[in-house]
Amino acid sequence: MSEHIARWHVEHANYYKLLDLLESLIETFIRSERPDYDLMSDIVYYMTQYPDRFHHPREDVAFRRLLARDPGIAPVIDELANQHRGISASSEALSADLRAAAEGAMMARATLQSDVRNYLALLRYHMDVEEREIFPRLAVLLDDEDWFLVDSAIHFAADPIFDDVVQERFKTLHHRIAREAGCRCKDAPEPACHLD
Ligand SMILES: [Fe+2]
Ligand SMILES: [Fe+2]
Repeated sequence: MSEHIARWHVEHANYYKLLDLLESLIETFIRSERPDYDLMSDIVYYMTQYPDRFHHPREDVAFRRLLARDPGIAPVIDELANQHRGISASSEALSADLRAAAEGAMMARATLQSDVRNYLALLRYHMDVEEREIFPRLAVLLDDEDWFLVDSAIHFAADPIFDDVVQERFKTLHHRIAREAGCRCKDAPEPACHLD
């Protein structure tokens, strides 16, 4: 398996953990307790800063290379490319709404709930399709030159939560994920905390 696909598997696993945490936070919200808007906001803000800027755009380049080798896959590639645009727009809008709620703005609870639920469903569906329909084809059909072009088009960037150096804004979220999802270094000493 290409190291790129291996990394994308790991990144998807990280995103599933974040989405599970976001879902548990929105359940607290539904039970009318004080929701942790700051943590919810940090999760979605992270999605705007790494997956939407690096993970999905790098996939787009690889998916276009796949299209040249496997034209029959076009409908799935088109759907995923549209979802990348939709996810990015949803992340930006939801991040702004949650930040406003965290800062005390009056938000329509039902709207925020359904926006989060729709966002969770879209991202999970999207990653499931990539894992099931596309990644196995990439592993077979793309060669070193294709992957070189992926790296050249969108340069690799360090993940601000899950790589070695955790950005200041994401430290609370990192520690929460480490506690709930498991982290080999237990108490997340900086700078290196390796989430499983
Ligand atoms: Fe994607
Ligand atoms: Fe992906």
